[in-house]
This record gives sequence, C-alpha cells and structure tokens, in this order.
Amino acid sequence: MSTEFKDRIIMVTGASDGIGQRVAAALGEAGASVIALGRNEDGLQQTLERIESFGGRCLCVPFDLMNFDDYGKLFLSLKDHIPHLDGLVHCAGSIDRCTPLQYVKTDVFRQMLDIHLTAPNMLTQIMLPLLKRAEAASIIFTTCDMIDEDQKNFHAYGFAKRALAYAAAMWQAEQPDKPYRFNTLNPGKVRTELFKRAFGGMHPKEVPAVSSVVPAYLYLLSDQSKDLRGQTIHARDLNIG
Ligand SMILES: NC(=O)c1ccc[n+]([C@@H]2O[C@H](COP(=O)([O-])OP(=O)(O)OC[C@H]3O[C@@H](n4cnc5c(N)ncnc54)[C@H](OP(=O)(O)O)[C@@H]3O)[C@@H](O)[C@H]2O)c1
Repeated sequence: MSTEFKDRIIMVTGASDGIGQRVAAALGEAGASVIALGRNEDGLQQTLERIESFGGRCLCVPFDLMNFDDYGKLFLSLKDHIPHLDGLVHCAGSIDRCTPLQYVKTDVFRQMLDIHLTAPNMLTQIMLPLLKRAEAASIIFTTCDMIDEDQKNFHAYGFAKRALAYAAAMWQAEQPDKPYRFNTLNPGKVRTELFKRAFGGMHPKEVPAVSSVVPAYLYLLSDQSKDLRGQTIHARDLNIG
C-alpha cells in the first residue's frame, strides 16, 4: 500500500458509485482513512471491501444528503471519533432527465439545486470545525462542462454547477490566510451511471473511464497543489492521469 496520504482523514460524498467510489478507493490505497458517504449500502460495502483489500481504512456512513436536518447529527457522530478532516471531496450528484426550462417541474428544479449546490455548501459548513482541526485541508467541489459551456436542457443542474465556482471563490475569500483550500474540479465526461442518464445519446465507448480522472482528485488533495486556492480547474488541464 502506498503511504502518500498516511494519517490523512478524507471524507468523500457519492462514494457508493461512479467517480466518488473510485476516488475513495484510490485514497484508501494511498494510505488515507476514508469516510465514505452515500445512500446505497451495497455500493458503500463495495467501497469498503475495495479499500480493505489494499489494507486501508474506511468508515461507511449511509447518508442522504437531501436530509439537511440530519447534517448536525452527522457532525456530532464524527466529532469525538476523528481528530480532524484533511479533505472533503464532493462527488455526490444525480440527474434524472434533461428538460427544457419551459417544462421543468419545480420539485425537480429544486432537487438539482439542493443536491448539487445546497448540499456541498452546507456539508462544508457543518464539517468546517473538523477541517479547521487539520494542519491544512483541501475541499473539492465537483463541477462539469457547463461551468463554461452553455448546454441546453440541463436547467438547475447546470445553474448549480456554474454557481459552485463562485461558491469555492467565496469560501476561499472568507478564509484568505488560512491553510484551507477550496477549489472546483471539472472531471469532464466520464463513463458512469449519471453520464448514461444525462447523455443517453452518446456511446459510452466515446467517453473516458472513471479511472482517468482519479489522479486529478488525488493531486488536488495532495500537498503538490497547495498553491491552488479558490480556482476553477479542469481535470484535462492538469495533464495527469
Ligand atoms: N459522469 C460524468 O460524465 C460527469 C461529468 C461532469 C461532472 N460529473 C459530476 O461528478 C459527480 C459524480 O457523478 P458520477 O458520474 O460519479 O455519478 P454516479 O455514478 O451516478 O454517482 C453519484 C453518486 O452520488 C450519490 N448520491 C446521489 N444522490 C445522493 C443523495 N441524495 N445523498 C447521498 N448521496 C447521493 C450516489 O450514491 P447513492 O445512490 O448511494 O446515494 C452515487 O454514489 C457529480 O457531481 C456529477 O455531477 C459527472
């Protein structure tokens, strides 16, 4: 097992599938203790088994990020059991159907804003005391191509992702001299369940596998990227992986 992240404790949302699951597994392999959040317990179990097979450590926390009233309980359940959090990777996300703005239903619009914008910001807020206990911490918000491309029919998904860039800059501006870093990472299109739902017309073979974007997440969590603060980053521009 690699020890690059030894003694680091890193929380990953969306760790039961897709990008989050692969990032969680890679962190476990690199020596981090991973706190894996997701709703699907089978998916979380797969993440746990993968990490344990590398000799790593993982705490699986079944948690629905749409239940904002439970965020306080989540923090209380962790605060006396972990000394600090060195990283928080926001990978949870969902999209059921692409719809033009003129037809999108209010509840669907709100769900997209909540899971992609409200949840990562409020989870960051509630975990801040644990992040502040670390010597330094890296927080990654996952965005998408809509951060700088206008794509039709993605309604609040696109709005939320674009707003995350502003959010990361605000978090950083409010903590200017602190050793905490807030960046957004756009993985680009990768072959996951979310991709299949969002881009049903594209053949999966046309898009990269999830493993191609994992090094970008690890880089942003590592000390190598310590000067990147409040930035909007595209995985492909990092030239790693
Ligand atoms: N795949 C792409 O092409 C692509 C491109 C750009 C950006 N992204 C972004 O990358 C991130 C990861 O996407 P992905 O492609 O890896 O998707 P995915 O394979 O569908 O995985 C999504 C993850 O989010 C979790 N999740 C969804 N709703 C949740 C909720 N209410 N509470 C807790 N966890 C929840 C899911 O877990 P449970 O089902 O267990 O809850 C799952 O672990 C998303 O933010 C997405 O917008 C993806």
